[in-house]
Amino acid sequence: MRVLLTGGAGYIGSHIAVVLLEEGHDVIVIDDFSNSHPEAVRRVEELSGRPVIRIDCDLADLDASSRALADVEFDSVIHLAGLKSIGESVSRPSSYYRTNIVATLNILDIMAIKDVRRFVFSSSATVYGTPDSPVIDESHPVGRGLTNPYGWSKWMNEQIIRDVQHARPELEVSLLRYFNPVGAHPSGQIGESPSGTPNNLMPYVAQVAAGTRDRVSVFGDSYATPDGTGVRDYIHIMDLAEGHLAALAHLSPGVTVYNLGTGVGHSVLELIREFSAQSGREIPYRVTAPRTGDVSSAIADPAKANSELGWRATRSLADSCRDSWLWQSQNPQGLTGQG
Ligand code: UD1
Repeated sequence: MRVLLTGGAGYIGSHIAVVLLEEGHDVIVIDDFSNSHPEAVRRVEELSGRPVIRIDCDLADLDASSRALADVEFDSVIHLAGLKSIGESVSRPSSYYRTNIVATLNILDIMAIKDVRRFVFSSSATVYGTPDSPVIDESHPVGRGLTNPYGWSKWMNEQIIRDVQHARPELEVSLLRYFNPVGAHPSGQIGESPSGTPNNLMPYVAQVAAGTRDRVSVFGDSYATPDGTGVRDYIHIMDLAEGHLAALAHLSPGVTVYNLGTGVGHSVLELIREFSAQSGREIPYRVTAPRTGDVSSAIADPAKANSELGWRATRSLADSCRDSWLWQSQNPQGLTGQG
């Protein structure tokens, strides 16, 4: 396959790129590098020993991206380009909607012009809003209890994609709802490179372990969970990347939704303990007030992806912490200032 990865230089895209290249597929990355670094693409090439076609372009700019992709051949798209900071989406909603919605409209239009039919979308378990139960399958209602424009933009994108597929029935679409992607490539060469203060737990914990930050704030310890702290389904980024490959391999006309998660939940304190064990570092923490909008537990029921895609997450939380620590300790500044 020749796969166009939108946002392909980012945390998730770079790991998918390595997996695709290693499986013999060709990869084209289109990215505006607003929240990623060209060094990630160089490292993907180094790790896989294969070249990547790199297109520096903002997908939300239809003229520029149509021109940039006019002569580029691809048969499949994995659409990851978008902004993802919850807090920023609340303070700058129009910019979030513009980027996240317009980029999707544009890539779908470009696909129609080029008669490209295979589409995998990077969605999120955030679309489940406030879940009815800790373990969530794909039939769970979406959109209820969503509290931020980032989440709504994922929900809206899913609807837009369904409508476009309805109008173009030959389109083969997979909507992948990620739970909590963590970890890094086992080489420690690519990983999550947050700009500024990390919003998510594992990169924050990694920076505390490295001594860049003083302590972790544990957002609440009175949830209805075994130790009172929030429980999430942390999925290793390499498992997530392999899930995309499986989704591509099983596309068929229509829209299919898959949860990508492990089916196992871990609490904030468990994650801190495991990271401490893997890094050999003490990780100070302090319990603070719960974060607005957080739910107590969110765990995937991954049975549909397991049976229909023949895929399952095989890596443990220990693997994620070990690989995240390797990445963090080898790249204390992320990719900033590189290449
Ligand atoms: C968040 C987003 C979700 C997004 C996902 C991946 C919200 C409500 N949801 O999920 O839409 O798809 O990131 O980017 O923000 N925690 C702490 N201290 C911290 C950070 C987090 O205790 O400094 C706790 C949280 O309360 C939660 C768990 O750690 O229980 C995981 O948090 P996080 O990594 O931010 O992911 P989610 O909130 O699950």
